[in-house]
Amino acid sequence: MNSQEIIRQIRQIKEEKNAVVLAHYYMSPELQITADKGGVADFIGDSLGLSVEAARVQAENIVFCGVRFMAETAKILNPKKRVFLPDMDAGCSLASSITAEDICELRRKYPGVPIIAYVNTYAETKAECDICCTSRNALAIAQSFDADTLIFVPDIYMGQNLQQNIETQTGKKLILWDGKCEVHEQFTGDSMEMMQILNPEAEMLMHWEVPKETVNSSFGRSKGVLGSTNDILHYVGESKAQKFILASECDLGATLKGMYPEREFITPCFKCPYMKKINLENTLAALRSIGTDNADRFEIILPEDIMQRALTPIKRMLEFA
Ligand code: 13P
Ligand code: SF4
Repeated sequence: MNSQEIIRQIRQIKEEKNAVVLAHYYMSPELQITADKGGVADFIGDSLGLSVEAARVQAENIVFCGVRFMAETAKILNPKKRVFLPDMDAGCSLASSITAEDICELRRKYPGVPIIAYVNTYAETKAECDICCTSRNALAIAQSFDADTLIFVPDIYMGQNLQQNIETQTGKKLILWDGKCEVHEQFTGDSMEMMQILNPEAEMLMHWEVPKETVNSSFGRSKGVLGSTNDILHYVGESKAQKFILASECDLGATLKGMYPEREFITPCFKCPYMKKINLENTLAALRSIGTDNADRFEIILPEDIMQRALTPIKRMLEFA
């Protein structure tokens, strides 16, 4: 079946099964086309935008084109809806770097220290934490605590970038975990320097998950933004620059080119292998499974008590949406 035919079938089955498709900006371009433009996604967003949208969904079924921790968050926020992930192996190197038991151990080691969990964690882990955050609101959430020491898990690079920002503003100290995003850790200072030498007029678009050394050396040479996916998309709109170097997931380049066709984006192509597990074919298969014995293959099912306990830190996070 060609892509156009799969898209046609997805659009038809969505109607028949009362389903919506939510997609992250890191999806391949064919999954980033929204339904109003003839594609399949009813909403496309960053992880915070997708959480807000998931909580609002009225349809009975949500097919989540993203990774598992995102689909879990959608289920926790809207538990009466059925949430489907087209490939259960769509994981995340950050989410798998830390367990609920690790959080309990941190609590024993640092009694009374608030624990902020990046949303890139599984539901059991979130259930043990005080508040979640995404890359869009992590700084505001860390600043909102009175405590002078906080625990931030699991992304060590994002933690170091946050530490650098928060320390100068508030003097707060962050205790960090050793998790890494296997995509963003590939952006090295040397590779950025080469691109900056070749494109001296370009501004930098860097995600919080890029290592601190790369961030600092890159901003020593050019201006730009360090932020979340949404911050990056907005920065380009506000900037007068014509050319940008993207230090984030490769397919965000497609989003940027679509939004700002007159600008130029240099996009070193590191793809998230977990996000790329989701494609048109398995999105169609997940939709087809709804209401059949095959649904178990795709449906997100979480224990009731975990959902309830994880809801509290997720709801606190949404107060900063
Ligand atoms: P955003 O919060 O920017 O959507 O990032 C999600 C993610 O997985 C980054 O690697
Ligand atoms: Fe996880 Fe990194 Fe992939 Fe985002 S890009 S889902 S943090 S592995």
